[in-house]
Amino acid sequence: MSPGSTKLVVIEGTEVALVRDDFGDFHAIGDTCTHGAVSLSDGEVEGRTIECWLHGSTFDLVTGRPLCLPATVPVPVFTATVDGTDVLVELN
Ligand code: FES
Repeated sequence: MSPGSTKLVVIEGTEVALVRDDFGDFHAIGDTCTHGAVSLSDGEVEGRTIECWLHGSTFDLVTGRPLCLPATVPVPVFTATVDGTDVLVELN
């Protein structure tokens, strides 16, 4: 995955947006926007945030918190660890 890209992965039935931010770091967050139930992995990465494509809320990739309306509820954040060429995601 190149910086600024996303990938939808399903882990044990949980849809996770795997995101590589613009600085090259990996993040794993719940894929579903908390405002309108659309896929955040279809959104746009900006720095360490991802913008929902439908109404434009941006979510902090580190905390999961929405940084602007209309979303007000955070998305879950999971631990993503790089191990060689693999990215390991740990569900809470
Ligand atoms: S559906 Fe994501 S901000 Fe509305």
